[in-house]
Amino acid sequence: MHKVGVIVGSIRKDSINRKYAAALMKLAQGKLDCRELRIDDLPLFNQDDEASPVPAVVRFKTEVKAADAILFVTPEHNRSIPAAMKNAIDWASRPPSDRSFKGKVAAITGASKGRISTAIAQQHLRTIINGHFLALLGGPEVFLDYNDALFDDDGNILDETTKKLLTTFVDNFSRLVDAFAD
Ligand code: FNR
Repeated sequence: MHKVGVIVGSIRKDSINRKYAAALMKLAQGKLDCRELRIDDLPLFNQDDEASPVPAVVRFKTEVKAADAILFVTPEHNRSIPAAMKNAIDWASRPPSDRSFKGKVAAITGASKGRISTAIAQQHLRTIINGHFLALLGGPEVFLDYNDALFDDDGNILDETTKKLLTTFVDNFSRLVDAFAD
């Protein structure tokens, strides 16, 4: 089964995006081998350190490289992606001779409590990562309008319409990963 590194753009304990990511990972069981990649211990990106980064960065880049694909689950902070997510991408993208996302495919989604949800952050993220990946999942675009009744504590999806949409998202991503992964 192909490996997916899941990058959640929130580093807070009760993140709704982590709950959403957990539900997606559960839905993907048997199709994709998903695991979350830690980003909360990465220092602020500094180009002075990119040639000899600290162990947390080395670990993160190694984990990214070991994955066939990356799933980004992003909150929206001030109409863009959170700084923690951008920081992780900056580390993964440098130096040019050691780009961690090279040759991989990716999908983007995210949750917030609001009708347009993370639409603007997701568009920003698409622009940021486009050149680093072999291909990005086009659709369905899922801008999840989060509420606590959508998932239970075990990552099960309680709303049938949401489950149908997320199943299509996971299945399409799985098809993309299978098509491009070695
Ligand atoms: C937000 N939030 C937010 N929501 C949104 O839909 N659009 C936005 O532009 C913003 N901007 C924003 C800025 C900052 C600094 C914070 C802390 C929050 C609200 C955000 O969606 C909410 O806090 C979510 O719970 C964040 O996701 P996690 O951390 O729960 O995964």
